[in-house]
Amino acid sequence: MTWNSAPFAPPPGLSYLPSLPRLRFRRLESSTSDAIDAGDDGSSVSGLVTSDEFYPSCGRGYLFRCGLVEAKTLAWVSSSTVMIAILDKVKMASWPAIIVYSASSLALATYLILEPLFLNPLSRIPGPKLFALTKWRLALEDWKGTRTQAIDRLHRQYGPAVRIGPSEVSFNSLSALRTIYGPGSRYGRTYFYRMFDVYGKQNLFTFHSPVEHGQRKKLVSHAYSKTTMLKPPAASMVEDKVHKYMKLIESEPDHVSDVFNTLHYYSLDNITAFLYGKYGSTSAMDGSEAHRALIGDILDPARRRLSWFTVHLPSLTRWLYTRTDLMESLVAPFLPMQKPATYTGIRKFALDVYTSFKNHKQGKETGIEDDGHGSSIMERLWQHHNTQRENGMDDLEIASECADHFLAGIDTTSDTLMFLVWSLSQPRNKVFQEKLRQEVLGIPAESLNERGYPTVEASDKCAYLQAIIKETLRLYAPLPSYEPRSVQVDSEVDGYAIPADTVVGIQPYTLHRNPEVFEDPLTFNPERWLGPQAAEANRWFWAFSSGGRMCIGLHLAMAEMTTLTAAIYRTYQTNLAPAFKQASPGITARFEMFYDERFPTIKEHSCIIKFQSFDGSV
Ligand code: HEM
Repeated sequence: MTWNSAPFAPPPGLSYLPSLPRLRFRRLESSTSDAIDAGDDGSSVSGLVTSDEFYPSCGRGYLFRCGLVEAKTLAWVSSSTVMIAILDKVKMASWPAIIVYSASSLALATYLILEPLFLNPLSRIPGPKLFALTKWRLALEDWKGTRTQAIDRLHRQYGPAVRIGPSEVSFNSLSALRTIYGPGSRYGRTYFYRMFDVYGKQNLFTFHSPVEHGQRKKLVSHAYSKTTMLKPPAASMVEDKVHKYMKLIESEPDHVSDVFNTLHYYSLDNITAFLYGKYGSTSAMDGSEAHRALIGDILDPARRRLSWFTVHLPSLTRWLYTRTDLMESLVAPFLPMQKPATYTGIRKFALDVYTSFKNHKQGKETGIEDDGHGSSIMERLWQHHNTQRENGMDDLEIASECADHFLAGIDTTSDTLMFLVWSLSQPRNKVFQEKLRQEVLGIPAESLNERGYPTVEASDKCAYLQAIIKETLRLYAPLPSYEPRSVQVDSEVDGYAIPADTVVGIQPYTLHRNPEVFEDPLTFNPERWLGPQAAEANRWFWAFSSGGRMCIGLHLAMAEMTTLTAAIYRTYQTNLAPAFKQASPGITARFEMFYDERFPTIKEHSCIIKFQSFDGSV
């Protein structure tokens, strides 16, 4: 990246201001400037890079955009102070001093208060004044881990469009959903997503430009399609993992399991088999301590604090984590999360797998049996490696792409499954559990695999089961907060003028709790997805996002969730452990801990369930 020294024109949204300070901002020039330029804010699919070798390039472009108002304010304050000091020094006559003081104060007031509150086009959008004045007001909610609920409250108070920052707006309507996230939308992911770069390389999740994103998505979209997922080898892989999970539950003392952990093992073993095939399949469900340890750094609550620092103070965070030798020890007590930080283990594992795969491909490593399918995501991307075709991907680009899917595929699926089992295990929801059991028991023998469990295809056809998954995702979407988007030209959303580079978004949490669409919205009721009201409900269902950036792992996640749920409820009745009778499990979603707020107690990263077999054996 290089910086040029050309003065930077005020952003379009501010260009109407006649008397902006003459600061010489410098524009970032880089091949990745599209993404760097993108904007503001903060939140996972999952993962921060904080080890020395893996820290992504970030900082100046981000600060330039998201800190524009703060930077200019600071410049104004310091230049005014210097001016005042000079005037004082030369002992100017009092009347010119008064004029200069007054002009400065007026300009400052215009700049700090009048511009954001009255002159900025976003000032037409309702919302609390403090949020409009400074981005640090929303950052405070992030710090407290209450962003999603705070934005939800603001929507209830101010309506479907709320200004939540000087340059940030949250919407809550289907029309805004179409404009921002619909097919062909011009809005791209903001700079916020760059915290998901891996090994310093961008991937599907972090591209801002629709062109780069589209080109990458084309390489893997077929591998994630529903047709691929319903048949071998993908379907047999999922069925094999379901079998392993059932064996794991059988081996748990008294069939009591902390499903937060065991479901993480399940999703971990699925995603690694799918991405890496034999080169990197984990065996956490078989008891591998090394593989189980991979999820260890997900559990550290400091992960949320690190997300906050990475998003709100990127340069400082980068600086802190890239110190070496003596400085490294000196800054250690101030690190938001001690090293190794979030996902370091997973990212290292993923890079080792890729290295071993590449060595094998190039004949440098033997002893790994090729699975013959060439169907893993890594195998598919290898066909686009620069040794296989001109201008192909380099090593770290392939490794980054795989690692990103790896990180995206663990918590999302396992947290959803955990909330599903927890919801069905509540005494008031036993009726739904029983109806599900009747449905999965009705799966005909020819739709069971050789282990006696429903196939992926048969599970996919269970309507009641699908409704239960939807209801779980409605209330407990693992990414409940909004997915920030921006576009580099002025635009319009729901009739509001949106200046270029404003961050806009919609949060599933609020969409999914609209009382006009979902009657009694806080209650778990899968049947709302089955009656005549289901058509309208479906229009508001948004757990996997939509348009070109929609979750690519949707069908893999659904295969994992439907097939395991069918197997569990054909075999067991599930009940809450006594400690969970009045408690909600809590999961980490970016800066926040997310849980069911109707319960008085939260049990972070734990959910203990008793699996009771129907034949009375346990
Ligand atoms: C219940 C499970 C899951 C949920 C609720 C979920 C949700 C989401 C959401 C909401 C997004 C869009 C984020 C945005 O708009 O910025 C997304 C993107 C993504 N998800 Fe998932 N996800 C799940 C499972 C998975 C799995 C198993 C994978 C494994 C590969 C995966 C891989 C991805 C990737 C790579 C993207 C970026 C897609 C793109 O930009 O084209 N997800 N996911």
